[in-house]
Amino acid sequence: MKVLGIETSCDETAVAVYDGDRGLVANRVFSQVALHAPHGGVVPELASRDHIARLLPLIEETLAEAGLPLQAIDGIAYTAGPGLIGALLVGACVARGLGYALRVPVIGVHHLEGHLLAPALEPDAPDFPYVALQVSGGHTMLIEVTGIGRYRVLGETLDDAAGEAFDKTAKFLGLGYPGGPALAAAAESGRPGVFDFPRPMLDRPGLDFSFSGLKTAVVVALRGRELGAQTRADVARGFEDAMVETLVGKALRALTMTGIPTLVIAGGVGANRRLREELDRRVAQAGARVHYPRPEFCTDNAAMIALAGHARLAAGEREDLPVRARARWPLEELRAPGTVPL
Ligand code: KG4
Ligand code: ZN
Repeated sequence: MKVLGIETSCDETAVAVYDGDRGLVANRVFSQVALHAPHGGVVPELASRDHIARLLPLIEETLAEAGLPLQAIDGIAYTAGPGLIGALLVGACVARGLGYALRVPVIGVHHLEGHLLAPALEPDAPDFPYVALQVSGGHTMLIEVTGIGRYRVLGETLDDAAGEAFDKTAKFLGLGYPGGPALAAAAESGRPGVFDFPRPMLDRPGLDFSFSGLKTAVVVALRGRELGAQTRADVARGFEDAMVETLVGKALRALTMTGIPTLVIAGGVGANRRLREELDRRVAQAGARVHYPRPEFCTDNAAMIALAGHARLAAGEREDLPVRARARWPLEELRAPGTVPL
């Protein structure tokens, strides 16, 4: 079964084709970073309009890359939420319209399910069960994954997401957008220990996170100081160290609490080099394994949506015709493929 995947939940327009026999056969992403950069963050209305302009040409390009005519597609998967509602509706309406015209089944996929299953796009895919650390601009969660559609949220952020904290702190430091990579780059020339920021909630039991205090600590530490290049780099380093230690500490605690020896990293912050190095070291020390999907499967993409949709469509799961798009959609509402009543 060949499934066309469509992702438009935020600021990437993405299309992919996943073939049950051959795996991923085409994968295209158009990033809106340049469009939103002058505004210092994603402007939802601009995102929606750009998805409208980009999506159809991108579908044509992706099919050309796959060497397939539109008629060869057996099913369509689109991101139905969570995300920006106007942006989601673009992908949902195009998917529904195409599916209706082609007379093929269409399924709305949970964006986080896509991220959680993305490791299966890699040749050395981890077996279930695993613990996933989902760290992106919108989410910071630890999730026990025992199968497709079988997710238990172990902990999540009480306020800002990790990526959001990176972005806001970078903006405060005048480092530009998107903030995560910019802050990580600045931290390279920063000295460790010059700024010692709190490790939020690491000293408390449980697996929840909180990052708004860390952001405030940066603001307070810089009050009345000259913000030269070295200070900026030192703050970036201090922030990154605090963030990495918190994420790694909680992830290890999740492995201990569940007794599961496999950790999977998902979401854009998973691209952070220092986070990866520290995880590699500490997870190995704990006798466990850590998997990272390659960076283009960590950040938003349609390959993961096509893969998740394929798993559900191939299991016989079907949806009725209404266009579905949900700005909010609790992950634990999901069920295993084929067990969802129409
Ligand atoms: O998963 P993603 O592409 O989009 C969603 O939020 O769904 O994640 C984007 C987030 C942004 O907040 C970005 O600043 C952060 O991931 N990010 C990073 C790095 N690369 C991307 N944060 C820290 N270090 C990085 N190298
Ligand atoms: Zn995402």
